[in-house]
Amino acid sequence: MSKRVSSVPLSGVRKIMEYAKGLQDIIPLNIGEPDFVTPKHIREAAKKSIDEGFTHYTTIKGIPEIRRAIAEKLMNENKMDVDPENEILVTAGTQAAFSAVCQALLDPGDEVIVQDPFYSGYEVALRIAGAKIVPVSVREQKYFAINPNEIKEKVTDKTKMVVLISPNNPTGNVLNKHTLNEISDIANDHDLLVVSDEIYEKITYDDVVNYSIGSIPGMEDRTITINGFSKTYAMTGWRIGFVTACEKLMGNISKVHHSMNVCACSISQRAALVALTGPQDCVTKMVKEYDKRRREITNLLNKTPGFECKIPKGAFYVFPNVKQFKMSSMELAKLLIKKARVVTVPGSAFGKNGEGYLRLSYATSLEKIREALARIKKVLTG
Ligand SMILES: Cc1ncc(COP(=O)(O)O)c(C=O)c1O
Repeated sequence: MSKRVSSVPLSGVRKIMEYAKGLQDIIPLNIGEPDFVTPKHIREAAKKSIDEGFTHYTTIKGIPEIRRAIAEKLMNENKMDVDPENEILVTAGTQAAFSAVCQALLDPGDEVIVQDPFYSGYEVALRIAGAKIVPVSVREQKYFAINPNEIKEKVTDKTKMVVLISPNNPTGNVLNKHTLNEISDIANDHDLLVVSDEIYEKITYDDVVNYSIGSIPGMEDRTITINGFSKTYAMTGWRIGFVTACEKLMGNISKVHHSMNVCACSISQRAALVALTGPQDCVTKMVKEYDKRRREITNLLNKTPGFECKIPKGAFYVFPNVKQFKMSSMELAKLLIKKARVVTVPGSAFGKNGEGYLRLSYATSLEKIREALARIKKVLTG
């Protein structure tokens, strides 16, 4: 067994899943995936791909058509000028893109600045790469937005990378243009790489829009943008995403990607191409539904004594403050599983600064959200 991998502890997200395993009549508000079925025209494209025998390896980078479609999307929506031939790699999901980036660009001991609370799936990838994770606490009062001055304070001569996730899992924060401009100044001053996870870019509310740090002049060669189809198009099981980086960095990233996957699934690539280039009203519809659920769950939580919940601007999670319960977030999450049969994720699963919060996903029906919140209220007040 590799000591490096064995030393990575089981994440709090996994612990809570283990705790809930086998229980009946559970409402899972812990799961970060759309409850919608992948839109029909995308499924049809996959069927067509199979029927046509398009079932072989593709080039390592991905089929040229999808790389061109991604480049066009990046130009039109993200204002990023990316060369589809040398600067885009199609991956087996965003998670795989991030792992490949870590293996390709980090050496043991390199310092990587992340926000705390931080998406736990990426913590594992950073640890396996031997990186030293340097957390910057984000605060509820600031709607969990990272403060660029606090990033600056954490920079040392070992800092190599800053990881941004916006819209954010677990907090729902969306970083604004001003903050991203300040972070880009820091990256330029200290010669840092920035990894920007924009997987929730289309899931924003109240006229808030995603802004891509890679579009800021001077950031082209130091930004690695990762994204995927899982959340926008309800395609979690298809395992398809992409990474953009300048040609120099891409050499190493595709080497790692090749060693793990050879290429992304050919059928999923064809389906993702149709997702990108086909009608987008399916996305609008899903986001509209998430918005309804977002308002409802925030409202219901704020009506439950002990919960204080700021309304998030992106993704599909709420991150309420539960400090009034005077127990750890893990204890509270376990209590809710045991007594209410509702699964949530303790904030501590996302870092020290997540303690005192719970993460609830609203990627589930309004009916289930209402039932879950009624059960929670009954257990905690009855
Ligand atoms: C911030 C973030 N990035 C990446 C992923 C994984 O995405 P994919 O399914 O594309 O691997 C998730 C899944 O929850 C996520 O929340």
